[in-house]
Amino acid sequence: MCGIVGIIGNKPIAEDLVEALRRLEYRGYDSAGVATVEDGKLVRRRAEGKLRNLEKRLLSDPLQGHIGIGHTRWATHGRPTEVNAHPHMSATVSVVHNGIIENFRALKEELTACGHVFESDTDTEAIVHLITDEMQKGASPTKAVEHALSKLQGAFALGIIFSGDEDMMIAARKGSPLAIGHGKDEMYLGSDAIALAPFTPEITYLEEGDWAVLRRSGVEIFDVESKPVKRQAIRSVASSLMVDKGNHRHFMAKEIHEQPEVISHTLANYIDMSKAKVVLPDLGVDLVTLPRVTISACGTAYYAGLVAKYWLEQIARVPVEIDIASEFRYREAPMPPGGLAVFISQSGETADTLAALRYCKAKGQKIASVVNVRTSTIARESDSVLLTLAGPEIGVASTKAFTCQLAALACLAIGIGRARGTISREQEIAYVEALLEVPRLISALLAEDGQFNDIAQHLSQARDVLYLGRGVSFPLAMEGALKLKEISYIHAEGYAAGELKHGPIALIDENVPVIVVAPEDELFPKTISNMQEVAARGGQIIMISDADPVAAGCEQAIHISVPKVNPLASPLLYAIPVQLLAYQTAVSRGTDVDQPRNLAKSVTVE
Ligand code: M6R
Repeated sequence: MCGIVGIIGNKPIAEDLVEALRRLEYRGYDSAGVATVEDGKLVRRRAEGKLRNLEKRLLSDPLQGHIGIGHTRWATHGRPTEVNAHPHMSATVSVVHNGIIENFRALKEELTACGHVFESDTDTEAIVHLITDEMQKGASPTKAVEHALSKLQGAFALGIIFSGDEDMMIAARKGSPLAIGHGKDEMYLGSDAIALAPFTPEITYLEEGDWAVLRRSGVEIFDVESKPVKRQAIRSVASSLMVDKGNHRHFMAKEIHEQPEVISHTLANYIDMSKAKVVLPDLGVDLVTLPRVTISACGTAYYAGLVAKYWLEQIARVPVEIDIASEFRYREAPMPPGGLAVFISQSGETADTLAALRYCKAKGQKIASVVNVRTSTIARESDSVLLTLAGPEIGVASTKAFTCQLAALACLAIGIGRARGTISREQEIAYVEALLEVPRLISALLAEDGQFNDIAQHLSQARDVLYLGRGVSFPLAMEGALKLKEISYIHAEGYAAGELKHGPIALIDENVPVIVVAPEDELFPKTISNMQEVAARGGQIIMISDADPVAAGCEQAIHISVPKVNPLASPLLYAIPVQLLAYQTAVSRGTDVDQPRNLAKSVTVE
């Protein structure tokens, strides 16, 4: 994680570095810093906490350099203190780093033995001393970096500047994304194109193992063997406008309310409206004989994948294997020839998901990704891409990206089902119509968001909360629990309703709210039985349902009413109350909803 930027400009660039960092704060916000070269010397400003602290620091103590690097941190090695904040530097070299240097302990021991003094607990500082050491032995800055890179194990995106040189910055990429921006007599560096959008739309993405020397006049790029290479410059579509909260108090609220619109856009990408027909990109596999779909993702994206497992098995009758990416990549799961591997990711940069993708590619699987960022590494390394059109998601808690993932995955299941002949044309039309109804039903639900206030107020006092669901509602229960814990810091767990009596029921007493995701589908009677088991033990039931709890014999339940919907589409609709409950509970508790503690939006380390 962490975001890095660099600018070689023609005026003092500290303010522009901060502007670029603001657009990368989604990658971490434990501390921030910038370094420039002034009168030939390296100078830096750093601050603990959010970027606004660095801004204050720069106001009272400005920097004048025309070349500089910047960093926003998500702590991996060392506490989020100023001393551990990037840039790290010696008198000769200053470095910003995204990633993890796995062999930093060995390097630190070696360098300390040679007289280098470390001031921080970070892995990054080893890079500074490594380059400094090479230069002290007489290497030029470029040779010193080249030698240092060959000694680094792990993942990194680096921005490096040197004292005495106001026209050279070195960038390097291994395992972490890095984009170079081309300006007029100016050059830029950033973890993504969004960071560079205010300055230039002309972007070159470094490829795995590349390193580059940037000067005002242009860039020279070298591959992993340090051979000069050409990498194409593209025109980025990232918006230069900073996304704002509109009339909402938080990005998360705005993003929840954007769902009717962005789900419509995503559905329109895969549905031919005039024919009520799903149109998929070429997935590169024979769908009729497709032996298996393997799904891998992390966090909320994984829960979208779990819903897709139900859909793909029920609608397309294709076996589905699914696992969280951090486990999957080490399991050495056998892969059938002709199989399709699907990776789901909002950012398209999640390190574990990317590693799982590369594992499946090496095993001969065709790779499809469901991503929200067209230019992301996962998208670029996939054979086919199902883009979600959620737009930039800024709140750390994923909301609109999740429902757009569900929309794309529902279309995937329907499209594969049609190709395999497991659903008829009439069923396809019925499914498509059900999906197209979702944006309107979500709007209706959002218009009634006042119904969540009292319940959220009540939830905000709880220490533990359980979420239950069956079938496609089981992943929704887990998503509800994840959403609540990540932004309100209340302990929450999601369970399959039928699993309750095998252990978790021991937790139930009058202080534990139990939120049941209970659409009136064919599993509803069984879910009701599980609710009765909770009620019999004094648990407080909050029933999210299109059915009347009294008619269902569960009169003691607090009811969150949801419009009726075709069961296929219920996960998209039931995601909304689950998100609103978490959001309003967090607001009641006064937490930092958009940037909850310890988290980052894009998790680019293992
Ligand atoms: O960018 P990705 O979709 O790959 O991110 C995966 C998870 O890190 C992400 O969904 C995370 O769990 C969210 N904070 C959940 O709200």
